[in-house]
Amino acid sequence: MRYNPRAMKSVMVTGGAGFIGSNYVRFALERHPDWRIVVLDKFTYAGNPDNLKDIAERFKDRFTVVRGDIADREVVFETMRMHRVDIIINFAADTHVDRSLTEPGQFILTDVYGTYVLLEAAREFKVERYHQISTDEVYGDIPEPHRSREDDRLRGSSPYSASKAGGDLMCLAYHRSFGVPVTITRGTNNIGPYQYPEKVVPLFITNAIDNLPLPLYGDGKQMRDYQYVLDHCEGIDVVIERGVPGEVYNIGSGVETRNIDMARAILDLLGKPYTLIQPITDRPGHDRRYAVDISKVRALGWQPRHTFAQAIEKTVRWYVDNEWWWRKIKSGEFMEYYKRHYSGREVNLQLEL
Ligand code: NAD
Ligand code: TYD
Repeated sequence: MRYNPRAMKSVMVTGGAGFIGSNYVRFALERHPDWRIVVLDKFTYAGNPDNLKDIAERFKDRFTVVRGDIADREVVFETMRMHRVDIIINFAADTHVDRSLTEPGQFILTDVYGTYVLLEAAREFKVERYHQISTDEVYGDIPEPHRSREDDRLRGSSPYSASKAGGDLMCLAYHRSFGVPVTITRGTNNIGPYQYPEKVVPLFITNAIDNLPLPLYGDGKQMRDYQYVLDHCEGIDVVIERGVPGEVYNIGSGVETRNIDMARAILDLLGKPYTLIQPITDRPGHDRRYAVDISKVRALGWQPRHTFAQAIEKTVRWYVDNEWWWRKIKSGEFMEYYKRHYSGREVNLQLEL
């Protein structure tokens, strides 16, 4: 195929050096030979050049990285101009619930104000599509047997989920007031390669590999829909291609797993004893259950490809095979956070194993 720059689409992926963003960039560069991708990322503790290392080499003709903050209007507008961006996909966010409990202001700055700056750019440069990556956490704690539907009320329980809800509402307002062609996906908990080990699944896997305790909050009976990250990436792509502007789509496996069962599955796969599970004091405001109805995105022709068993198996295997990636991270800043966050929280609780 002859290279014709005018036939190419220019796509700005913000937060592309993080967990889901980097998986999406790798997936999208393979899936769309007519896309040029510019990643705009602030490289916070969660943004990692190692997540993009193979991509930078394999796709150097149509892949660029810009270091910058989505809340910085000048950087955002300059990147839009320089790269003549047609589509914005916003993954950039502060993402960890526990950190949002101690530093909520940073979450508001990126997840609400940063989203506003990107929407201003989308409006000014008349993009073909602005796609917002959101989360099922915006629906809050969901009593059984309900599954959240896209038009349910937003009731974020943590500063993280409240900030993400603020971002979603701003996107919908820019659609309604200014006609910006916005779509939103609300994904459930992702698992897979390159996830920063503050999140529960990579934390438990890497601790278990080193025979360290798995710090389980409360009684471990909280339910999460753990989906494989590439299923989520495919769903995002389908919504960008076939979704209707102004609409929101849930993406998840549709199956919930208790945290205690997720921990046991990891230990089983690694051949480690359940006695590594260490109950600790619960997270303040901890949502007991998230569950989403995925019929709307299914109607676009997408479906999850991995069961929980397949997703957790692939994920465990990746961390076993890629110690080079996570051993570097689990030092320095991470260890300080770990000590600060987990010290002295052990409780004596008989878990129903
Ligand atoms: P992550 O924390 O691994 O990565 C976030 C990325 O955004 C990092 O590269 C970071 O450097 C960058 N970033 C942070 N603040 C920035 C700023 N102000 N300007 C530019 N870049 C900035 O997050 P993730 O788990 O990959 O999540 C990505 C998106 O998906 C987020 O919007 C999150 O809310 C959403 N989401 C995550 C999950 C999950 O399970 N991880 C589930 C549903 C939705
Ligand atoms: P997490 O990965 O932080 O994602 P989220 O809170 O955004 O869903 O946590 C997933 C679940 O695991 C959540 O119910 C909290 C629980 N959890 C623990 O039990 N121990 C931990 O050390 C962490 C980080 C989370």
